[in-house]
Amino acid sequence: MIQDLEIRVGLEGLTPGKIITLYRRAPLLRAVDTPSRVWEKFEASSLVITAWHGDQLAGIVRAMSDGVSESYLCELAVEPDVQDSGVGRKLLDVVFEQCKGTDLLLRHSSISSKYYEKLGFRRVDNAWFRKL
Ligand SMILES: CC(C)(COP(=O)(O)OP(=O)(O)OC[C@H]1O[C@@H](n2cnc3c(N)ncnc32)[C@H](O)[C@@H]1OP(=O)(O)O)[C@@H](O)C(=O)NCCC(=O)NCCS
Repeated sequence: MIQDLEIRVGLEGLTPGKIITLYRRAPLLRAVDTPSRVWEKFEASSLVITAWHGDQLAGIVRAMSDGVSESYLCELAVEPDVQDSGVGRKLLDVVFEQCKGTDLLLRHSSISSKYYEKLGFRRVDNAWFRKL
């Protein structure tokens, strides 16, 4: 299964509908009521990585990076049928390669904190948050 996976960098093959369906199924709890707003986020991201089985979207992640010192990882989601088979790790490997040399930050969900620990992230206590 994982051997048949095609990894793409960029928006090729993606539609707002495919992203929303994957988020709902994963599940990844994000506001998806307005497809154009979902798509805007992807167009504005410096890095979009997708995993495909044929034309089926199996996983997705996006990031914003200045390519020099700072990167921010967002909204990693994997299709439930193929969770726990290495898809997330494959997507993140591409992010790590593309954002090499930078500090990669993210916000985790309650069910995924251990996942990021497993993939080599460490918790920091010097991050700040403000809703705008
Ligand atoms: C969290 C998620 C992205 C993981 O992707 P995945 O493709 O299922 O995970 P992988 O197959 O790459 O797993 C890599 C390793 O982490 C482990 N792992 C998977 N999910 C985990 C979790 N939630 N907590 C701890 N470990 C986890 C796997 O068992 C595997 O371990 P191994 O290397 O010893 O075999 C996926 O389960 C998902 O989409 N969950 C719902 C949405 C979500 O929570 N996204 C993150 C938002 S911040």
